[in-house]
Amino acid sequence: MLPTDETKQLSFNRRIAEGDLVIVYERHDTMKAVKVIAGSVLQNRFGVYKHSEWIGKPFGSKALSNKGRFIYLLAPTPELWTLVLNHRTQILYIADISLVVMYLELVPGCVVLESGTGSGSLSTSLARAVAPSGHVYTFDFHEERAASAREDFEKTGLSNLVTVGVRDIQGEGFPDEFIGLADSVFLDLPQPWLAIPSAEKMLKQDGVLCSFSPCIEQVQRSCEVLRSSFTDIRTFEILLRSYDVREVNIKDSNEDGLVVSGSRKRRQFSQEDAEENSGHQVLARPSPEARGHTGYLTFARLKCL
Ligand SMILES: C[S@@+](CC[C@H](N)C(=O)[O-])C[C@H]1O[C@@H](n2cnc3c(N)ncnc32)[C@H](O)[C@@H]1O
Repeated sequence: MLPTDETKQLSFNRRIAEGDLVIVYERHDTMKAVKVIAGSVLQNRFGVYKHSEWIGKPFGSKALSNKGRFIYLLAPTPELWTLVLNHRTQILYIADISLVVMYLELVPGCVVLESGTGSGSLSTSLARAVAPSGHVYTFDFHEERAASAREDFEKTGLSNLVTVGVRDIQGEGFPDEFIGLADSVFLDLPQPWLAIPSAEKMLKQDGVLCSFSPCIEQVQRSCEVLRSSFTDIRTFEILLRSYDVREVNIKDSNEDGLVVSGSRKRRQFSQEDAEENSGHQVLARPSPEARGHTGYLTFARLKCL
């Protein structure tokens, strides 16, 4: 998850070793995490791939099956892990995670408190942001979920950056040992307003809190509680639109709503285009897989009283 080589130096030229986790990429919507074990094979619709042939290749390489079909062997990153992890709960996705990491002002060395841990999707990005000297303390009241998250952090090599605790944060608050020590607190809980008074005690002066809630009623209740001790309270909803960009033969195409790129102004593809232009064009349109509403992110900064 952290781009380091064997000497723990930052490196973007790493090679695959026995025991590494790799993301096997067929296409952007078909990926899986695989642990490399010499002697093992990966079998998919393209044939059989020997792990032993992957060892020593740089991450990002192509690997060929016995039928000559290829996949890519990608380095695991929090962004890819979020797409391949085992969903034990609803999770945060990249668009929301990006804003959380930015607005919580996370840099190496920060201490972050989080609850609930859920599937550990967000925790993975929090850990990378605070590495190598910071730490994420994440709490979930569901023991099995906490144990599975711990296993995942072992698997992804983040266990020295993330500690998972089992605790009812809405009922008991965060442990007193963290009072005044957290640079930021993140809540993804059904009744976050119950945990806000404790989060307030945990934060360092000027610390930032974020709460993720799917429903606006939860946001309203949280904001009411936040107002007494927090300032700069802001709520965002991130709507991400991805695009399919590909080359098509305009004459053969009968697809509507495509945006034509080229030297002329950006505009909608029409029948006239088909008549005017022959051959290939690069066309783009919003992806039908685009995610809609995920939730609201409320950020607030502790007031200095
Ligand atoms: C939606 S999941 C969090 C997902 C997580 N943000 C992620 O990206 O993977 C919410 C989690 O909160 C936990 N939870 C609910 N109430 C809790 C409480 N009172 N104390 C601690 N954890 C709680 C649930 O067990 C669940 O795992």
